[in-house]
Amino acid sequence: MVNKITVVGAGNVGATAAQRIAEKELARTVVMVDVADGIPQGKGLDQWESAPIELFDSRVVGTTGYDETKDSDVVVITAGIARKPGMSRDDLLNTNAGIVKAVSEQVKATSPNAIIIVVSNPLDVMCYVAKAVSGFPRERVIGMAGVLDTARYRSFLAMELDVSVRDIQAMVLGGHGDTMVPLISYTTVSGIPITQLMAKDKLDAIVDRARNGGAEIVKLLKTGSAYYAPSAGAVQMVEAIVRDQKRILPCSAWLEGEYGMTGLFLGVPVKLGRNGIEQIIEVSLTVDEQAALAKSAEAVREPMSVVKL
Ligand code: NAI
Ligand code: 2OP
Repeated sequence: MVNKITVVGAGNVGATAAQRIAEKELARTVVMVDVADGIPQGKGLDQWESAPIELFDSRVVGTTGYDETKDSDVVVITAGIARKPGMSRDDLLNTNAGIVKAVSEQVKATSPNAIIIVVSNPLDVMCYVAKAVSGFPRERVIGMAGVLDTARYRSFLAMELDVSVRDIQAMVLGGHGDTMVPLISYTTVSGIPITQLMAKDKLDAIVDRARNGGAEIVKLLKTGSAYYAPSAGAVQMVEAIVRDQKRILPCSAWLEGEYGMTGLFLGVPVKLGRNGIEQIIEVSLTVDEQAALAKSAEAVREPMSVVKL
């Protein structure tokens, strides 16, 4: 357990993440920050009142300021607006860039040694904003998307094969958008290559469903986007860091030559431990996967080139 974890944005993703962090007792204090006065305080108190039932000792508090967040070990940024039907993640660009910029300035001033996990969309560009504004090294600014996209892919494969999700190993790389890259060559069921267990047309349909997994939920909910799986993804990353687990997870990381790319955030396999990103792992890709990753990088660079810092 660390001393303090802050979650900025007490909306659907943020509040659910805070609750999960408290239930796992990852920090002595969990602070939720939001601009909507009353919401973080009310949700924080409500969550803390569940402690005697769920039996956790992490104290949850809500606030609209940053004094209570001082010296946080980890900060999860979920502040921003979410997708509505018909909106792409890039439609959120300018509004969320302004929000993530303001939040990152506050984090830099109050928690200069924190590890930042970005969730706000468009994810890879918001990571860029957080890194540029905070000035934190790349080890300490990490984006959550690959864990979610991979979880969706794994859940659909488990449903189709009627096997436990535990036995599906997979990795989705690239940007958090329609160009994400599920790696079929690294998808196995307890070590058995997926191509031995599933026909190509079924696999292609599942890859497609995973790519559109966010939009599928938006269409169903009508008033917002997914938050149970996204918050679980962010908290898996927090846990890997807090407990120094050295997990190998697909996360959005600032590339400096890895995969032949420099100067952008992109989903790649990383080792997560107490120092944040402890290693970026370069795996060999098929020619098709390499081309798909390059296309995905272009889809990230485009909004990155117009975002105002
Ligand atoms: P939400 O609308 O439920 O919550 C957002 C919260 O941010 C609101 O409570 C709002 O008051 C707050 N906020 C706005 N400006 C703020 C500021 N300057 N400081 C602090 N709080 C502020 O939205 P939800 O569903 O929680 O989604 C949050 C973000 O996460 C969205 O941008 C969404 O697109 C993104 N997202 C990303 C995923 C990923 O895989 N990376 C998955 C799911 C959501
Ligand atoms: C998702 O994938 C909207 O990015 C969000 O659910």
